[in-house]
Amino acid sequence: MPRYALVTGASSGIGLALAEALARRGRNLILVARQRDVLESVACEFTQRFGVEVLFRTCNLAHPTQLTGLIHELEQGELHIDLLVNNAGLGTSGPFLDSDWGREQQQLEVNLLALTRLCHAVGNSMALQGGGQILNVASVAAFQPGPWMSSYYAGKAYVLNLSEGLREEMKSRGIKVSVLCPGPTRTAFFRGAAMEMGKLDGSKLMMSAEELALYTVRALEKNRAIIIPGWRNRLAARSSRFAPRWLVRKLAGAINKRFTAQ
Ligand SMILES: NC(=O)c1ccc[n+]([C@@H]2O[C@H](COP(=O)([O-])OP(=O)(O)OC[C@H]3O[C@@H](n4cnc5c(N)ncnc54)[C@H](OP(=O)(O)O)[C@@H]3O)[C@@H](O)[C@H]2O)c1
Repeated sequence: MPRYALVTGASSGIGLALAEALARRGRNLILVARQRDVLESVACEFTQRFGVEVLFRTCNLAHPTQLTGLIHELEQGELHIDLLVNNAGLGTSGPFLDSDWGREQQQLEVNLLALTRLCHAVGNSMALQGGGQILNVASVAAFQPGPWMSSYYAGKAYVLNLSEGLREEMKSRGIKVSVLCPGPTRTAFFRGAAMEMGKLDGSKLMMSAEELALYTVRALEKNRAIIIPGWRNRLAARSSRFAPRWLVRKLAGAINKRFTAQ
């Protein structure tokens, strides 16, 4: 029975780059996102370039019925998934009280709820099949509060803590859990979150999704618990632990406010 790596949010940015890096290493893939035409052409391209089997499932992870449909298919156990990459996500920015509730809810549903349900469903299948690996995508935002992106930062803190907790719990069931905490990465994320990155876009502070993916697959092979690509991002994540909390809040708020388009 072939084994697959299932990657959510594989139609763009970090998810697409991770899927490519995995295909390059000979992994069969199941790509999940909403944009069917993109998934179809990526699947076709990776099959031709890397000689791997690539399936895709179109699914709006914020849509309960569609998510349940995907989960049911995965629970049938006919697809042997030995790596789950919970990458799909979106951001909101600007004053929380002025935000569009629909987008806030979508963020909670994709970034937290779908990710958690997939850990539960695929984690159980992996346990039955003797083990596997899960990679959840958080952010360096997970290490601190982030005014003007408060719900996004808080959601990523949830993903970080959930992943670390599950890593300890699932070890005895043969499942390795890691969490990826990228810093600013050149993708469509900022446009979606209504942020203008300006000069930062071309600077060294922004990593490319390909560079990030290469670092990540290597770290996954070493079963690293928390994967933070780039020394600047590791420094940022660590420094928030030592600086006073009030200062961390003020700094994060000032940075986010600067890049918020509103
Ligand atoms: N870029 C950064 O600087 C950065 C930094 C830290 C963490 N991250 C995290 O990295 C992850 C990937 O983001 P990215 O930067 O690669 O952004 P991106 O280029 O906008 O990609 C987001 C991906 O998520 C999918 N997605 C969004 N909403 C979805 C939904 N309702 N149902 C199914 N799929 C959905 C999108 O696919 P469709 O549109 O086809 O559905 C797309 O493939 C996110 O979790 C983000 O929070 C990003």
